This record gives sequence, structure tokens and C-alpha cells, in this order.
Amino acid sequence: MRLQENISLKLYNTFGIDARAKYFTAFNSLNELAESLEWSQQAGVNGKGETLVLGGGSNILFTKNYEGLILKNQLSGINKIAEDENHVYVQAGAGENWHQLVLYCINHGWSGIENLSLIYGSVGASPIQNIGAYGVEIKDVFHSLEAFHKQEKKTIIFNAADCEFAYRESIFKTKYKNEFVITNVTFRLSKKSILNTTYGAIEQELQAMNVKEPDLQSVSQAVINIRSRKLPDPKVTGNAGSFFKNPEISNSKFDELKQMFPGIIGYEIPNGNIKLAAGWLIEQCGPENGTSWKGYRKGDAGCHLKQALVLINYANATGKDIYALSQSIIDSVNKKFAVLLTTEVNII
Ligand code: FAD
Ligand code: EPU
Repeated sequence: MRLQENISLKLYNTFGIDARAKYFTAFNSLNELAESLEWSQQAGVNGKGETLVLGGGSNILFTKNYEGLILKNQLSGINKIAEDENHVYVQAGAGENWHQLVLYCINHGWSGIENLSLIYGSVGASPIQNIGAYGVEIKDVFHSLEAFHKQEKKTIIFNAADCEFAYRESIFKTKYKNEFVITNVTFRLSKKSILNTTYGAIEQELQAMNVKEPDLQSVSQAVINIRSRKLPDPKVTGNAGSFFKNPEISNSKFDELKQMFPGIIGYEIPNGNIKLAAGWLIEQCGPENGTSWKGYRKGDAGCHLKQALVLINYANATGKDIYALSQSIIDSVNKKFAVLLTTEVNII
């Protein structure tokens, strides 16, 4: 175990927040993970052996220094572990980069995750919030995962039902928050290219790319093109993608809001409720009457000009600056629409 003390986390979170970790170590194997957990419990880090697993740091906001032990996941490996007539079962180490896994599968002709191209972060974090984009969620291709229980020091296998997947949710964000370290994930992908191009602007983008017969590569490229136009590149501007979730409201509440705000954007979801576009709600509100959060900047904390759901760190914002902005946004949206936004990003 190579332990570092009092290090900056700036390079370990895509918001680029310069919080510090009291203790930091990376693990490349289950043994190293177990050893690090043992050390933190023995040492009574922060009085309680507190640890936090970090993947790519692309869905996290540090609002203060972390007083425990950060465990940076570097478990690697991508392997086809089984196949049948129509499917392959691909197991990836939790520390693998998500987008690299997507490209690997596309190159092998396995379909199912191409719409999830260019999502940041690690494979191990993908089930935590059931990552999703362009009509696909991880739950659609998920087979199982292995997770190491931090206290009981044993590996448990979770299948899809065990994970209690929902929109940007799983059991690892609720009942089992911080209890497990996900060590690998197995996906069930299709040998045939079953393309899903109906969502959003994918078809339009394929046309603009002059693609007559879409395949896995071109669909992935279309998604990459759309995302690159809307979302800031964390290497240039600190961010963690959508800061808030799109809120769900009842059909009757949607009708009331539609009377008052005819431009409001909402989509019916399978349970009959309506999912509102939070970006639109945020765009209609601002720090003062008649202003909009979209493009707003205070110090180095801001709201992205092309996508109001994304909060950004221009350079040296603190986690507290970003958090304070998020609270002002929540308050103003609640005041105008009586809709409570909740955060997608994990606040530490
Ligand atoms: P981290 O930020 O490192 O961790 C997130 C949380 O998971 C933390 O609580 C951490 O403790 C926990 N965790 C991480 N790894 C493990 C593990 N192995 N075991 C147990 N707990 C763990 N998300 C989407 O769903 N859809 C999108 O379209 C999308 N677009 C994005 C665009 C941009 C520009 C950015 C920056 C982010 C975007 N995200 C999106 C959010 C983010 O990419 C995902 O949530 C991703 O899965 C986070 O992975 P990570 O490894 O960076 O997680
Ligand atoms: N919109 C506005 N103003 C804005 C932003 C959006 O009016 O500032 C409107 C758009 O015009 C569109 C609607 O809101 O009609 C939806 O916008 P968009 O297609 O950009 O998607 P989103 O709902 O804002 C969600 C996910 C993204 C995911 C995309 C594509 C959430 C919280 N976000 O964004 O995920 O990539 O759909 O599927 O569900 C993430 O989770 O980090 C993330 C980026």
C-alpha cells in the first residue's frame, strides 16, 4: 500500500476543485483494496476508518477537505467471459475507463452501449447512478457485478434486480451507500447490431454526417458530436455533467404548469408521470427577476451557456461556491414552479 498524505484532489475530480485528502491510496487488486481498508480501520482514520472510493471523479463535488482515506480505483481488465447464440458477456474491471470500454465493444461489433459514448468516469461507477443517455441506461445491458463489502470484507454478487436500478439511482446510492466497493461489472451485449437511433437528435446528426446506413461506429460518433456541442469538456472547464436530475411530476401538476408556462418541456414516462426538462426550468429563472441562470457567472462558479443543467468551475471556484450556486438555483426554481430539483452529483 502506497499511502500519500494531505494531497490535493484537483486532478482527481472533473470539477477541478482543489480540496485536499488527508489520506490517499490507489488499489490495483482486491488484496490491495483489502489491505487499505484494513489500514484505515486499524488507524481509525477520522475516528471511524472513513473511506471514499473514487473512480474518475466525474460525478462528485468536494465542498470541503476529505478527512478520511480516498481509495482510487485502478482495477483493470476487459474480458469476454461467456457467449451464447445472440449475446456476449463482457466483464470489465471497475477501474477501467467507461468510454474506452464503449470503444472496445464497438470495435468487436458488440452492441448495447454505443449510445453511452463519451460519458466520463469509470466502469465501477456506471451502476451507481445507472448512467444513461440518448435512450439507453446501464440497466438495459447490465448482467451482474461483484462488490466488496468494506466492513465484512467479502465479495457479493449483485444481479440486476438486486441493484434496484431507477433513473440515476441504484441501491448503492440509497440503502448501501458507501458500504461496498464495486470491483467489476458484467454486461450482456448483443452480437447483432441493434441500433437505437430514435432518441433526440441522433437521426438528424446521422443525416448531417451523411450516413446512409448507420452502424455502431457512426451512431457512437453521432452521440459524441451532439454531446461535444452541448457539454463542456472537463479538461477545459471544470464540470460534472448534469448537476441536477430531471424532476418527475404528476400529469395533473404538469397540466397546471402548462397553463401558466406554455413553453414548459416534459415527457411522459412509463409510470404515467411527466419528466420535466430541468435545463428549461433553470433557464427561466435567474438571480434576479428578468435574468437567467444560463450563462450566469459569479466569481469562478457558473452555469453553462449551452446547457443550464451543467454547473461549471471556470478556474478556482471552491466546492462551496458551486454548492451555494446550486442552492440558489434550487430555491429560484422552487419559487417559480413549485418544483424541487434534486442533485445528481454526489456532494461530499
Ligand atoms: P466518481 O465521480 O469517481 O464517483 C461517483 C460516486 O460513485 C461517488 O460517490 C463514489 O464514491 C462512488 N463510486 C465510484 N466508483 C465506485 C466503486 N467502484 N464502488 C463503489 N462506489 C464507487 N452521467 C450520466 O449518467 N449520463 C451522462 O450523459 C453523463 N454525462 C456527463 C458528461 C460530463 C461532461 C461529465 C463530466 C459527467 C457526465 N456524467 C453523466 C456523470 C458521470 O460521468 C457518471 O456519473 C459516471 O458514472 C461517474 O463515474 P466516476 O468514475 O467519475 O465516478
Ligand atoms: N433545455 C433547455 N435549456 C437548457 C437545457 C436544456 O431548454 O439550458 C431543453 C432542451 O432544449 C431539450 C430538453 O431541455 O428540449 C432536454 O435537454 P437535453 O436533450 O440536453 O437533455 P437533458 O435532459 O438536459 C439528459 C441527461 C444527460 C444526458 C442527456 C441525453 C439528466 C439529468 N441529464 O440531459 O445526462 O446526456 O439527457 O440523454 O437526466 C448527466 O447525467 O450528467 C448527463 C449529462
